[in-house]
Amino acid sequence: MSDIITKAVIPAAGLGTRMLPIARTVPKEMLPIVDKPAISYLVEEAAASGITDILIVTGRNKNAIEDYFDYSPEYEQKLISAGKSTLVKQLRSVCTKANISFIRQLEPKGLGHAVYKAKAFIEDQPFAVLYGDDIIFSETPVVKQLTDLYAKYRLGVLGVKHVSKAQIMRYCTLDATRIEENIYKVTDMIEKPTEEQIITDLAILGRTVLNPEIFDILENTPPGAGGEIQLTDAMKVTANRHSMIACDFEGVRYDMGSKLGFLTANVEQGLLSEEVGEEFRKYLKNLVNTL
Ligand code: UTP
Repeated sequence: MSDIITKAVIPAAGLGTRMLPIARTVPKEMLPIVDKPAISYLVEEAAASGITDILIVTGRNKNAIEDYFDYSPEYEQKLISAGKSTLVKQLRSVCTKANISFIRQLEPKGLGHAVYKAKAFIEDQPFAVLYGDDIIFSETPVVKQLTDLYAKYRLGVLGVKHVSKAQIMRYCTLDATRIEENIYKVTDMIEKPTEEQIITDLAILGRTVLNPEIFDILENTPPGAGGEIQLTDAMKVTANRHSMIACDFEGVRYDMGSKLGFLTANVEQGLLSEEVGEEFRKYLKNLVNTL
C-alpha cells in the first residue's frame, strides 16, 4: 500500500439541523465565508495538500454543491464581453482544482455511513476525510499536516484540538499520550462521553487520514450515539488494534454547521478580505462604539 495520499472524501450529506431553517434548502456546506462557500475552501485545502481526486458525499436538497463545481457559461460570456477574463479563469479554477466526483447518501445515517459510501472510490489506498462543515485556515494546509504524519508513522491520523469540557461532551474524548510537541499516540476514544468518561480534552475536529481497513470495520459498526453510524466508533476499533496518531494541528477552525461558527468565520475572514476588509473594519469599529 502506497503512503502517498491522493484521494479524499468530503461527507456533506448531513441534515444540518443546527442551521435550520436555512439548511432546509441551502446546504450548510454551501454557506459562504465572505464570497465562497465553505466546501470551496475544503477543495482548495485538499488540492494544496496533493489530493488529486475528491469524492463529495451529498444527499437530497444538496444539488447546489454539484452545480458549484461546474462551469458557468452564462457568467463567463458576460464577463468576457466586459473584458474580465481574469475573473473567468478564477471561476474555472474552482472546478479544475481536482477531479471531483459525487455520490448520494440516500439517508443521513451518520458520518460513518457517509464515509462508507466512498469504499469503491477509495479502492485499497489510505485517504483523507474532510468534514464538510469544518473550515480551517492555516499556514500549511491541515490535510498536508496529517498526510506528512501518515508518511512518517504509517498509522491513521486524527486532526485534534484541546477543547472545553462542554465541547468534549458534544464531540469525543481521546486516550492519548504525547510523543512529540503537538503529536500524540491514541489508543482509545469515546464518542459523546459523559463527564465521568472524559479521558483527555483532545477532540477530533474535521480532518482524518484513514487506512482502507476502516471500510471493513464500518461494515460491522452498529448505530451508536444518536442512532447514527459513527465514524468515531469505527476509528476506536482502529485505535484499539494498531493505535492512531493525533495531530494538534496549526490553524484556525470554524464550525460552519453552527450559527456562531458561521458568524465568527465571516467577521474574522471578512476583516482579512483584500476587497472589503478595510471598509468592514471601519464599519465594525463604528458599530462597537455604539454598543
Ligand atoms: P455533523 O454531525 O456536523 O452534521 O457532521 P449534521 O448531522 O448535518 O449536523 P446537525 O447536528 O444535524 O446540525 C459532519 C459532516 O458530516 C456530514 C455533514 O454534512 C457534515 O459536513 N454528514 C453527517 C453526512 O455526510 N452524512 C450524515 O449522515 C451525517
